[in-house]
Amino acid sequence: MGKKGREIVEVDVKKLLKLLQKAYADEWIAYYAYKWVADVAHGIESPHMAELADKTADEEEEHADELAERILELGGDLPYGIEKLYDLANCKTVNYPKDLGDIKGILQALAEAEGCAIDVYNKIVKFLGPCYDKDIKTFHLIHHILAEEIKHEEAFENLL
Ligand SMILES: [Fe+2]
Ligand SMILES: [Fe+2]
Repeated sequence: MGKKGREIVEVDVKKLLKLLQKAYADEWIAYYAYKWVADVAHGIESPHMAELADKTADEEEEHADELAERILELGGDLPYGIEKLYDLANCKTVNYPKDLGDIKGILQALAEAEGCAIDVYNKIVKFLGPCYDKDIKTFHLIHHILAEEIKHEEAFENLL
């Protein structure tokens, strides 16, 4: 990021980067979880579920891209490696039912996982504080991602 762009950030950048790197790891795990569900849903011929899972996976991937851009702008490292991502993630797994034909169980697990993502972004919004102008760009990014995670949870809950 340019000199001025960095100067106007008035939060503890080290702490913020840690939060963003952890969220980045969460997004990759979420992306994988949705691609996996989409494959399962194709297998059990549940096209609506497959379509929703694929669409959600695309949005999680977009979140990862957006977080990556901001992490690099703030001068942070981008975590690399499956084990590293797993270590960093706040929401490490989705508690899928054993019976993969249990669509309701899958939907419940996904709604719960979105609940975890909502907590992650809500925490970052709170970290950035009521004075959102301390880091406007990150604030808007997190605000945008949080809104999409809320939409995801709602989408899965509505199918229950
Ligand atoms: Fe996400
Ligand atoms: Fe999500």
